[in-house]
Amino acid sequence: MSIHLPASGPAVVAHGRGDLRIEDVPLTAPATHEAVVEIAFGGICGSDLHYWLHGAAGESILKEPLVLGHEIVGVVVQQAVDGSGPGVGTPVAVHPASPAPGDVKYPEDRPNLSPGCTYLGSAARYPHTNGAFSRYANLPTRMLRRLPETLDLRTAALVEPASVAWHAAGRAGDVKGKSTLVIGSGPIGALVIAVLKRAGAARIVAVDMHDKPLEIARAVGADEVLKGDDAEAIAAVDADVVIESSGSHFGLASAIKGATRGGKVVMVGLLPSGPQPVFISLAITRELELIGSFRFNDEIDLVIDALADGSLFVDPVVTHEFGLTQGLEAFEVAKNSAESGKVLLNFQQ
Ligand SMILES: NC(=O)c1ccc[n+]([C@@H]2O[C@H](COP(=O)([O-])OP(=O)(O)OC[C@H]3O[C@@H](n4cnc5c(N)ncnc54)[C@H](O)[C@@H]3O)[C@@H](O)[C@H]2O)c1
Ligand SMILES: [Zn+2]
Repeated sequence: MSIHLPASGPAVVAHGRGDLRIEDVPLTAPATHEAVVEIAFGGICGSDLHYWLHGAAGESILKEPLVLGHEIVGVVVQQAVDGSGPGVGTPVAVHPASPAPGDVKYPEDRPNLSPGCTYLGSAARYPHTNGAFSRYANLPTRMLRRLPETLDLRTAALVEPASVAWHAAGRAGDVKGKSTLVIGSGPIGALVIAVLKRAGAARIVAVDMHDKPLEIARAVGADEVLKGDDAEAIAAVDADVVIESSGSHFGLASAIKGATRGGKVVMVGLLPSGPQPVFISLAITRELELIGSFRFNDEIDLVIDALADGSLFVDPVVTHEFGLTQGLEAFEVAKNSAESGKVLLNFQQ
């Protein structure tokens, strides 16, 4: 059973630096292992902003128009022809990664480190991997995660970035009873705070340059907030676990200074590629563990359960919602991290 699908539908397409368009894209026939999903909400992510503003996200450079969007949820409107995956009417979240089989070595239980991995809405490979900021998207059924009845689609729009946050917090090990510091309280930092709160951190201190993110940080569970330029106060936190989620080398310097001797610093904020000036000497003499964190694996299932049972509280992270016709305005608002948390596109509006 399926609904009658149109031949095309509106999508958010990055054509190059500064050239973002809401335009009709053809709806191609799904492959046998793909379901057609009617997208309900999409969260605008830093990488989407980078493709729009710079025509590139890190090393991934636009060489052809790219449908953006990897933080998406929707409802299956046509089941995959091979019978796999959820049936028509099922609300789903999406795991955007496709690890590539290959001969390059990486830990078997960490497919997020697969070198040939593709991600929805990414120009890392050529041809690019289109995302799903579109009214309808053909998605491989192995990406789809059925949403429990108690989890509404709007909240579920945060499943992907919350999984990034869950993975980052998990890289620090058990945080129960620990003193924690989060540098950068944008959507990722705020979701990290929500995860730390749920995991029983004894103290959560949030840092940002702006008031609005700090307000959100408090609302999701930070016990104290500090301004990013208050070096003395940050150093005095002396945290067991620090999560760097600003993506700036200044933030990483704060993270190192705010960590206690023998502490852990998880780096989830993405620094620009190339050499970075980093205040590293303290990391040596304090024997800090500097830990990278990249995307996520099966944490997505734990996040869905935790959002559904209400134990992971993330509501304050979403600050704005726009219909697709106001898509360009939505990107403008998302760009301004002093004023917005997560900005959602509503594809049904
Ligand atoms: N590792 C991964 O898998 C992964 C996945 C998604 C996003 N990210 C990265 O995580 C970072 C955060 O993402 P986001 O969506 O929250 O971005 P964002 O830009 O909305 O938030 C970053 C926040 O850090 C604050 N900030 C900047 N410099 C600071 C400083 N020196 N001290 C304290 N705060 C500072 C900003 O004011 C802003 O509120 C980005 O670098 C993003 O690329 C990483
Ligand atoms: Zn994202």
